[in-house]
Amino acid sequence: MLILGIESSCDETAASICEDFRNIRSSVISTQIEEHKKYGGVVPEIASRRHCENILEVTKQALKEADVTLADLDGIAVTYAPGLIGALLVGVNFAKSLAFAAEKPLIPVHHISGHIAANYICHKELEPPYLCIVASGAHSHLIEVLSYTEFRVIGRTRDDAAGECFDKCARAMGFPYPGGVHIDRHAQNGDALAFKLPHPAVAGNEFDFSFSGLKTSVINMLHRADQKGEIINKDNLSASIQRTISEIITEKTMGAAEQYGYKKIALAGGVSANSGVRAALSKACDERGFEFYMPELSLCGDNAAMIACQGSYNFAAGITADESLNAVATMPIDSIKF
Ligand code: KG4
Ligand code: ZN
Repeated sequence: MLILGIESSCDETAASICEDFRNIRSSVISTQIEEHKKYGGVVPEIASRRHCENILEVTKQALKEADVTLADLDGIAVTYAPGLIGALLVGVNFAKSLAFAAEKPLIPVHHISGHIAANYICHKELEPPYLCIVASGAHSHLIEVLSYTEFRVIGRTRDDAAGECFDKCARAMGFPYPGGVHIDRHAQNGDALAFKLPHPAVAGNEFDFSFSGLKTSVINMLHRADQKGEIINKDNLSASIQRTISEIITEKTMGAAEQYGYKKIALAGGVSANSGVRAALSKACDERGFEFYMPELSLCGDNAAMIACQGSYNFAAGITADESLNAVATMPIDSIKF
């Protein structure tokens, strides 16, 4: 089975060919980061325009690298939710037109289910059910992956996502967008115990997250230091932020695994590239004898290989869309609607 995947939910235009569920024949990504960097974050209208300019070329390249024609495809999968609406619309409309012209089924894919599927590409033995912690620029979710196409959210962020917290702390320290990777880099030379940062308490569901208190405390600390003319060691602060976020993610994930009886844990989303989060979860799983899965670094951020892979599972489960498919900016993974 050959599936073309298309991704345009944020600032990466991507296309990929996936064969037989987990074998990636090509994965092309055109990133807009350099352009958005000037503004300190993604400018939605610029993102839409760049997707519009790049999507055909990226798709042609993915087909060429895989040595596949449109006629060879079994289906065309596309991210339709959640994300920046104007950005999603470019991918959805393009995929819809391609599916119509090539007379192929159109397969809708939820972006977060795509991030989870990145693990299938890297770990051929991984099968549901398992518990997945998804941490990206817009989401922090603890998800029961019940099957390839069924998900139950048991914890979510009440405010900022983990990636957003990394990025906002990084911005306050003067690092360029997206800042998560810069915190990771600076953390390598820092003392993770130099600053004591809060683990925000969350009332109600113990598996929900809250990262805004941590962010505010970092921003306030930097302001106070600035007013007093003090210099804060950014390596130490980066290492302390990374340690705190890693601890929060690990504590919640291990708590949920124990309460819900999972011994198989996966990590997904852009923040899964973070060395501190990877090491902390890996260690905690080792100590408990849990199986632990995480994507290779090239599949942690947005890409279309994960969309093509999840699209293959959706297609096998009979999930296809007709020509009325629309993009949706906000849609929880456990209430997917087509
Ligand atoms: O999944 P993703 O590419 O886009 C969304 O779907 O949101 O995630 C992007 C997020 C950004 O917040 C980025 O700073 C963060 O992932 N990120 C990292 C690292 N690499 C990417 N955060 C911490 N450490 C990293 N190494
Ligand atoms: Zn993403």
